[in-house]
Amino acid sequence: MTETAYEEDERDTAGGNAITTENRSGILVVTLDQPGDPVNKVDRALGAELERLLQTIDSDRTIYGVVVTSAKKDIFVAGADIEQFLDFKTEQDAENASRYGQRLFNLLERARVPIVAAIHGACLGAGLEFALACRYRICTDHPKTVLALPEVQLGIIPGAGGTQRLPRLIGVRHALDMILTGKNIRAKQALQMGLVDEMVHPAILLEVAIRRTQELIDRTLKPKRSASKGFAGVALDGNPLGRAVVFKKARDGVMAKTGGNYPAPLAAIDVVRAGLSRGFEKGLDEEARVFGQMALTPVSRELVFLFFATTALKKDMGVPEPAPEPMPVDKIAVLGAGFMGAGITSVAVQQDTLVRLKDTDLAKVGIGLAAVRDVLKERLERKQITRQRFEDMMALAGGTIEYTGFGNVDLVIEAVFEDLAVKHSVLQVVEQLIPSHAVIASNTSTIPIARIAEGMRRSDRVLGMHFFSPVHKMPLLEVIVTPRTARDATVTAVAYGRKLGKTVIVVNDGPGFYTTRILSAYINEAGRVLDEGIAIDTVDNALVEFGFPVGPITLMDEVGLDVGKKVGLTMAEAFGVRMVPGEGVRRVVESGRTGRKGRSGFYLYDETGKKGGVDPSVYEVIHAGDRRAIPQSMGPVMGIEKQEIVNRCVLAMINEAARCLEEGILRSPRDGDIGAVFGIGFPPFRGGPFRYMDYVGVDEVLSQLDTLDGRYPERFKPAELLVEMAHSRKRFYPAEGKPV
Ligand code: NAI
Repeated sequence: MTETAYEEDERDTAGGNAITTENRSGILVVTLDQPGDPVNKVDRALGAELERLLQTIDSDRTIYGVVVTSAKKDIFVAGADIEQFLDFKTEQDAENASRYGQRLFNLLERARVPIVAAIHGACLGAGLEFALACRYRICTDHPKTVLALPEVQLGIIPGAGGTQRLPRLIGVRHALDMILTGKNIRAKQALQMGLVDEMVHPAILLEVAIRRTQELIDRTLKPKRSASKGFAGVALDGNPLGRAVVFKKARDGVMAKTGGNYPAPLAAIDVVRAGLSRGFEKGLDEEARVFGQMALTPVSRELVFLFFATTALKKDMGVPEPAPEPMPVDKIAVLGAGFMGAGITSVAVQQDTLVRLKDTDLAKVGIGLAAVRDVLKERLERKQITRQRFEDMMALAGGTIEYTGFGNVDLVIEAVFEDLAVKHSVLQVVEQLIPSHAVIASNTSTIPIARIAEGMRRSDRVLGMHFFSPVHKMPLLEVIVTPRTARDATVTAVAYGRKLGKTVIVVNDGPGFYTTRILSAYINEAGRVLDEGIAIDTVDNALVEFGFPVGPITLMDEVGLDVGKKVGLTMAEAFGVRMVPGEGVRRVVESGRTGRKGRSGFYLYDETGKKGGVDPSVYEVIHAGDRRAIPQSMGPVMGIEKQEIVNRCVLAMINEAARCLEEGILRSPRDGDIGAVFGIGFPPFRGGPFRYMDYVGVDEVLSQLDTLDGRYPERFKPAELLVEMAHSRKRFYPAEGKPV
C-alpha cells in the first residue's frame, strides 16, 4: 500500500467532529473532544479533521495564532488509537501509518501561524508528539498532568516524529531516558527539562495560553530552546564523542534490563542516533521504517494483547452480567500485622481507607505500622506526596490487639499465619463482631477458601483476596470465589482491589487457586532438575534468559523456604505426585534454611540482604548421602541443556495452567495470561501461558509433553483440554483481529 492509498483509506472514515474551534479576536481556540470516548486518541478520523483544520489555518487570514486544548477530564491526548494497530497486515502498512502521522505533525510545525499546546492531564505517545510539533507548550501543575512516550511498552517506537523532535528539544540523555522507559514525566520535571515552556495552575491555563499566543504573534515572546542541562549535559549531549558515550550507555542499560528480549528500545536508540548524525528528514525516514518493523514483531503483538486484556479486565466485575453494584468500602480491618498485613494496610491508606490493623501483641503491631510508614516515607522522599498527605495517610492506620473498632468495617482482610486452625480461630471470632454486609477476605496463598469458610455462619461473605508481595509494588490481585460466595461480595472485592490500583482477576476456588498452582508446578520441576545434579545458577540463568525476572531457585529464597514448605505440603496433598517437591529442595527446607530473610538459602546474602553467589555448602544438603561433586556452574549455558531445563519448567507450568482452565478454576485464557504475567512474572513479551501455547502451537506443546511424560511418568501427563484442542486444531485466541 502506498502512502496515498493510506490517506484515501483514512478519508473514507473521516467525518466526525472531534475538533471544535472558536475564533477569539484572531486567535483560534481549538478544542479536542472525540465524541463517545472518555479520552482523545490520535486516529484516522482525528487526523483527517486536523488536516482540514490546518488547511483552514493556512488560508484563513483572520487567524493569527492557535491554541490547542482538550475538553476531556484530565486528558490532553492519551496517544494513538491502538485498535488501529490491529489493521496492520504488513510492515509497509505500519510504516505508512507512521509516515502519515509524521506528515501531519510536519504540517502542524510549519503552520503559517504560531500554535500553542495548552496541556492539562495525560499527554502521551502520539499526543506528546502532537505537542512537540507545536511552537510553545504550557502545562498545568496538576498531579494528573503527565507527559510520556510509552511506545516501547507496546513493543514499538514513537512513530510520528517523537524520536527526532524530542532529543532536539531536551537533549539526547533525557530523550533516551523517556523513549527507552516510557516513563511518566510530571509537570515540574517537564518544565525543568525543557519539555514544556511554562507551567500554570489549571484555572488559568487557557487564559495564559491565549496571552502567550498573542506574544508569539507580536514576536515579544521567543521560546527558550536550551534546557538547563548542567555540565554533564553539555559535555555529553553537545558533541559526537559525548553522544557516543550516551548511546553506548543506553544500549548497555537496555541489555542489562531486558536481556535483549525486547527489540524496540534497541531499535529506538539507533533511530535517535541516525537522526542526529544524518539530519531530521533522514531520521524521520528511519523512524517510519523501524516503526513498521517493530509493529509487526511477535513481541509487539503480545504487548498489545496485554494492553487490550488489561483494558477488558477493567470492565469485568467477575460475575455474570448484570453485575450488582459494589458496596462502598471506607473502613477495613486487617488481621495480622506481618509482612502482608502491613503491605495491604500501606496501599489501603493511600486510597483514604480507614484501617484497623490487628495482631496478637503490641510489639508486632508496632513493627507492622513501622512497615506501613516505610512504604509511605518512600513516596514522601520521592516527592510524590506532601508531608501533610503523608501524615494524613498515617493517621488512617490504627493498630489494635483487641477487636476494637471492628463493629463498622466494610471489609476484613485476614493475613495471619498460613495455618488453617489459626485462620479459623480468628475468623470465627471476627464474624460475630462485624456488620452483616461486611466482606470477609483471606489473603491465603494456598488454602482453599471453602475450607477457610467451613464452620462459619456467614460463608456467603467469604472469599479470597490474594495479594502478592511486596503489596505496594505487585500489580495483581487474585480474587477467589467459592460456589457459596455472594455476588455482591465478589464485585465489592473486585471494585476495592481496583481502587487499590490492582489489576484484578477472579478465579474459582481450589488448592493454590491459579497463580500458586502454576507457580508450584514450575518451581517443583526446577527442584527436580537440581536433583539431577544441575547447578543452581544454571537453572536460574536458563529461565532468566527465557524472560522471567528471576530464576525459580532465587524465587524460592525470596519467598522464604518456610513459606514454600507450607505451600508445598498443601499442593502435594491436593495433587499427588505431580506436585511433590524435589528431594534436594525438601532437604534444604528441612535443614532450617529460610532463604533471603534468614540470610541462609540457596544463595549467599550479606548483612543487608544483598544476594551474592550460590552458597556452595547447600549442595551438600541437596545431595545428602550422595557424595557427588559440586555441580559446576555453567553460567548462561547454551544448547540442548538449557533448552531442556526451560522446557521442563515451562511445560510443567503451562500444562498446569491448561488444567486450571479445563477445571473451571480460570474463567478464560485471558485471566490466565494476565495472572501469570502480573502475578508471577511470566515474560510479558510472550503474552502469558495461553498466548505462548498458541504461539508455539498447541499440537507442538502436546507432543513435547508426551515426550517428557514418557521420561518422567505422572509429571507431564498432558491436560485433557490440550489433547482435545490439538485434535480439533483449536487455539486459545483467534488468529486474527482483536484478541480479547
Ligand atoms: P507473617 O508471618 O509475616 O505475618 C503473619 C502475622 O499474623 C504475624 O505478625 C502474626 O503475629 C500474626 N498473627 C498470627 N496469629 C494471629 C492472630 N490470632 N491474630 C492476629 N494476628 C495474628 O506472614 P505473611 O507473610 O504476612 O503471610 C500472611 C498470609 O499471607 C499467609 O496466609 C500467607 O500465606 C499469605 N501470603 C503471603 C505472601 C508472602 O509472600 N509472604 C504472598 C501472598 C500471600
